[in-house]
Parts: sequence; structure tokens; C-alpha cells
Amino acid sequence: TGYVTLDPGFVNTASCSSAITYIDGDAGILRYRGYPIEQLAERSNFIEVSYLLIYGELPTQAQLDEFSAKISRHTLLHEDLKRFFDGFPRDAHPMPVLSSAVSALSTFYQDSLSPFDDKQVDMSTIRLLAKVPTIAAYAYKKSVGQPFLYPDNSLGLVENFLRMTFGFPAEPYDVDPDLVRALDLLFILHADHEQNCSTSTVRMVGSAEANLFASISAGVNALFGPLHGGANSAVLEMLEGIRAEGGDVANFVRRVKNKEKGVRLMGFGHRVYKNYDPRAAIIKKTADEILGKLGGDDHLLEIAKKLEETALADDYFIERKLYPNVDFYTGLIYRAMGFPTKFFTVLFALGRLPGWIAHWREMINDPATKIGRPRQVYTGETQRDYTGIDHR
Ligand code: CMC
Repeated sequence: TGYVTLDPGFVNTASCSSAITYIDGDAGILRYRGYPIEQLAERSNFIEVSYLLIYGELPTQAQLDEFSAKISRHTLLHEDLKRFFDGFPRDAHPMPVLSSAVSALSTFYQDSLSPFDDKQVDMSTIRLLAKVPTIAAYAYKKSVGQPFLYPDNSLGLVENFLRMTFGFPAEPYDVDPDLVRALDLLFILHADHEQNCSTSTVRMVGSAEANLFASISAGVNALFGPLHGGANSAVLEMLEGIRAEGGDVANFVRRVKNKEKGVRLMGFGHRVYKNYDPRAAIIKKTADEILGKLGGDDHLLEIAKKLEETALADDYFIERKLYPNVDFYTGLIYRAMGFPTKFFTVLFALGRLPGWIAHWREMINDPATKIGRPRQVYTGETQRDYTGIDHR
């Protein structure tokens, strides 16, 4: 009632207080729980960063060992949940498969659904961190018609995921340590980004006191969108499109500037960063190195670099403060790792999972939380009288 402000896309409205992630978009600064992303990228690992985001502090060795061991113990999927994958068409996009399977966890783990029981929330947290990589690997296996592999809990989270994705039951799978380190780094860089579309979705759904699995499943669906996590696939499709048309970067940039319908420079621009995305800076630095080792597609990398160079020197992009974001180079790396384009956004989801969980937990424990219920500015008809169907 009373005074309502209109703010489409929440450009100027804070929806909550949060102590998890700090971004200064003008300066290009990103910190998780106070720690600069550059330091975490260089010195930490994904499991440790997950602990940091969720529990607020870097773990001691004992805490880290216990956390990792608990996650390892829960990587198996219920055999009935495995059958779930048979119900999808072979060419199903893995993101809706992932969100459906995460949603289905609510039916298998009815003992950990209470949002207000800390032990149950911890149990769901561990189950999600452990099982989502397995679900993701099975979504991939289903899409290529290969048999599912059981997790090997002697391996770390990222190695285990890579083995379940690319390994075969009867063959040993030698996980390339460079690949493990590169994917671990990418997961760290994606692990949280404060109130983005999917995280806000997780909080919104959770504010109705929906359980953690239900809330995270909603977040996966939000991430699927091409303006959000789907951008990493869209970048690669864009680069391939430019190559197919003869590699004319200048012409593509012209079409972007003319605002042709559906033509945006994917992997550029950000609601908060009005400077180089610090995650993109780290990725760019490692892209050459990783692609060199893994044998990436040099021609596509060349097109990407030329695009970046052209855009950064162009008034259209300068005036609007459009810089490469996290997704600009990731697709090239994922592709060099052997992932199909359709799968890139699933990798984003794996990385973002601890951030979603941390925000849901912060939301549910915040006494200031109220059910998310935005207001509107009504623009429809004023009152009018019903007319019978014969008189319309
Ligand atoms: N290519 C061309 N023009 C752009 C782009 C782009 N990628 N991004 C923004 N603009 C223009 C936009 O047309 C507008 O121009 P004008 O003022 O003349 O109307 C101006 O820049 C401001 O853009 P906006 O759409 O109002 O900005 P936003 O904050 O609503 O959107 C965004 C942010 C990320 C959705 C947008 O930049 C975009 O669509 N980028 C491409 C998709 C992408 O890479 N998404 C990944 C984001 S990072 C990972 C993640 O968090 O998901």
C-alpha cells in the first residue's frame, strides 16, 4: 500500500543484506568472504572455496578433511534416481535434466527437507555438493549413449566428475592433472557472484520456505538462460557463426552496433562490472596456457581475441562500458577439455552450486528475511462492466 517505486530488473534495489561476496563493479574487484578472487584462484581449491562460502571462514586441515570425506561418502545416486535419466529423450539438453534431477532429490531425501533444522540443512548441503557432479556426469553419459560409471571416492571431487564424464567402466581413466587443475580453477571463479539472476531466484524460492533442493533446482533453471549462464554456450555458437561466415569480425561488430534483433556480443557486458570482469582477466591469462596444453581451436581463439580487441577500441562499447565477462573465454577452454557446447552451462552450475547454497542458508538464517513478494505498477483497465458473450 502507499508509495511504490518501479525498478525493472532491480537495477537500483537491494533485495537483502549479505556478507558472502563483495563486488566493486567500477574497480573490477571481486572478493569471497573478504578474500580477493585472484588469491583464491592462485592458492585455494574448489572444495576449500565451497567451505569458505558456505561456512564463512577458511577451514582448518581437520575441518577440510571432514568436509571432503562427507562429500565423498554421498556421491552415489540412488539406483532409482539413475532410472530417471531413461525418461528423457537422448538429445535432451542437460540443463533441464539437471534441474529435474535436483528437484527429484526432494523425493529421495525426505529426511533432510526442513529449512529450520540445521542438521538437516547440513545434510542437504553435503548431498547436493556430492550428487550434483554425479547427476551432471550422467546427463552427459545419457546424451552420448554411454554407460554410467559409479563414482570412485578415492578421487577428489573434480577428478571424480571428469572420470564419471569421460571414463568407461572397463577401462582405467588417467585423469590429466592439468585438466583437473584448470576445471577446479574455473569452478572457483564461478563459485559465487552475489545477487545475480539465479542466486536471487534461489533466495526468492527459499523465502517461501521451500526446501534447499527445490530452491537450487529453480536456480539451475534461471542459469539456463542465455543472458546468464547460457552465455558460455552462446559465445561459442557466436564464434562458430563468425567463422562459418568467413571470419569477418568487423562485420559482426557492425551488426551488434546496429542492434540487429538477436545479435549481441555474447560474453560482453555485465550489470555490475563497468570495467574488465576480474574473472575474465584470470581466465584470459590462463586460456592460452590451457589451450596450448590441451590443444584448443586456435582459429576460434583468434576470432575471440580479434573480437575483444575490436570491441574494446570501439566507441559503442566504450561509451556503454562493455567489457568481456566471465563467459567470453570459458567456452573455448571447455571445448578444448572435450565438453560439447550444450554442456557448458552445466559446468557453470557445478561451479555456482556452493554460492547458491551459501545464499540460501544466509537467507533462511537472517531474521530480516521476508517472503519475496515484489509490488507492481498496474497499467491495465480501470473498472468496467461485464458484457454477455452476445454483445462482444
Ligand atoms: N552486446 C551489445 N550491446 C550490449 C551488450 C552486448 N553484450 N550488453 C549490453 N549492451 C548494450 C545494450 O544494448 C544497452 O545499450 P543502449 O543503452 O543503447 O540501449 C547498454 O549496453 C546497456 O545494456 P543493458 O542490456 O541495459 O545492460 P543489463 O545490465 O541489463 O544487461 C547483460 C547485462 C549481461 C544481460 C548484458 O550485458 C548482455 O546481454 N550481455 C550478453 C550476455 C552475456 O554475456 N551474459 C553473461 C553475463 S556474465 C555471467 C553471468 O553472471 O551470468
